[in-house]
Amino acid sequence: SRYSRITGTGSFLPPRRVTNADLAAQLAAEGVETSDEWIVERTGIRARHFAERDVSTSDLGLEAARNALEAAGRKASEIDLIIVATSTPDMVFPSSATILQNKLGIAGCPAFDLQAVCSGFVYALTVADSMIKSGAASKALVIGAEVFSRILDFKDRTTCVLFGDGAGAVVLEASDTPGILSSDLHADGKHVEILCVPGTVYGGKVHGNPLLRMDGQAVFKLAVGVLEEAARTALKKAGKTEADIDWLIPHQANIRIMQGTARKLKLPMDKLVVTVDQHGNTSAASIPLALDAAVRGGKVKKGDTLMLEGVGGGFTWGAVLLDF
Ligand code: ACO
Repeated sequence: SRYSRITGTGSFLPPRRVTNADLAAQLAAEGVETSDEWIVERTGIRARHFAERDVSTSDLGLEAARNALEAAGRKASEIDLIIVATSTPDMVFPSSATILQNKLGIAGCPAFDLQAVCSGFVYALTVADSMIKSGAASKALVIGAEVFSRILDFKDRTTCVLFGDGAGAVVLEASDTPGILSSDLHADGKHVEILCVPGTVYGGKVHGNPLLRMDGQAVFKLAVGVLEEAARTALKKAGKTEADIDWLIPHQANIRIMQGTARKLKLPMDKLVVTVDQHGNTSAASIPLALDAAVRGGKVKKGDTLMLEGVGGGFTWGAVLLDF
């Protein structure tokens, strides 16, 4: 049989690091009140990175991809599939994946964006796994990259303190042994309103609000339940139990959601990979950023069983169980 396996991870954060105190001072100048205490207590976030104006999703994704290629010992020319999970693409079209492909100096292989907001990376990994299993690809770059700072409303303290910019990537290769063990993806479009960027462009103008808006409590209530269910389904599909999980690497949105999911899965907190404190919520980039941090930090080792899971706008949610 043919399986897929991660052979290298990489990530990249734009250099400008903004602490809660920095952000609170910036917002105070606009008459918006917040504090380090509030942000840390409600979310676990201490700092995030913001990209400069001339830096795009493909720029961040490119650096993450180069780091993943190096870790995998692969050259860009060996890659035969590129998927970029993003909700903040460089342009309306073409895709950030094609722009990134050109920046990598390669051509010819399929390249496309995948839009599932914060679930984007687990969706993209599942699609790449399927394409590898079918024989359509053998060495894929799967990237999550975002510049959420572009779509934040800095007059809305309930959302602008939560998000950051960054990118993470993996090289996923065909293998005789798994690799990816199972996946469970879902969407329910009736929840569009609780987390969206409703504005759209027509006639050369933006119509509607082009900035992120979220009903945080409604998102919170949905998130923990669906994440537990997706994780349990992925375990069942692979014939595994919670006890087989070495590391839980959830979408990094809010420490309370992450701890809530770990508790429901009866996992000790030291099996939870946490980067939300340093990265904030980087949407589709958060899981591969956390994975790369855990690999380079010596936590995740070859052979470990990882549960990746994400939830985001749409609503979309899902989990991927894999042997690293
Ligand atoms: N600074 C200071 N005070 C604030 C801030 C802030 N940044 N934001 C809100 N407040 C105030 C509110 O105005 C409110 O004041 P009031 O009681 O006087 O009205 C008070 O704090 C409490 O607000 P709540 O919204 O009830 O706070 P809550 O504990 O629910 O925390 C939060 C809000 C952090 C957004 C939480 O609901 C949450 O994390 N939800 C999930 C969000 C999430 O994970 N989204 C991402 C998932 S999908 C994706 O990643 C795209």
